[in-house]
Amino acid sequence: MLTTILRTMGVAAALVAFASSSASADEPGKREFMTYCASCHGTDAMGGGQVAEFMSVAIPDLTTIAQRNDGKFPFLEVVHMVDGRSGVMAHGSEMPVWGDRFTADLPDTMEGDLSSVWKVRGRILSLVYYLESIQQ
Ligand code: HEC
Repeated sequence: MLTTILRTMGVAAALVAFASSSASADEPGKREFMTYCASCHGTDAMGGGQVAEFMSVAIPDLTTIAQRNDGKFPFLEVVHMVDGRSGVMAHGSEMPVWGDRFTADLPDTMEGDLSSVWKVRGRILSLVYYLESIQQ
């Protein structure tokens, strides 16, 4: 009897732990955002970052990307804005303001050590999933 109760409590504790860990699934992306994007886009992504007043172009509210795209978040387009395939002038298209943090040259063959490529891709995906998660 007691072991059943303890076992049930164990399962419950594990479920709570799982629930709270999945609730913070966006954390890595959020960290990337706070470090590399918030200076301009603001910590709430709404455009009021510290650097905003020094920019000659308006900084867009990144929580309304979906709203401005018929309610659909253009995931791949945003990925391409970060990995540099489509340049945003204000990001410094050729020399991104975030350096090479989100840049990885795909090798010609998928052989050898690709861990740095996957690491960069993972960073970009986490970041864009985070942006998707904060759409209004
Ligand atoms: C130096 C300031 C600055 C930094 C840092 C910056 N951005 Fe931007 N971003 C801008 C400006 C300004 C625009 C608008 C450019 C335009 O209208 O041509 C923009 C546009 C965008 C857009 C297009 C938004 C839309 O509504 O179409 C996305 C997406 C974006 N930024 C994501 C990011 C991400 C992700 C990061 C961090 C990795 C980042 N930005 C870092 C200044 C910045």
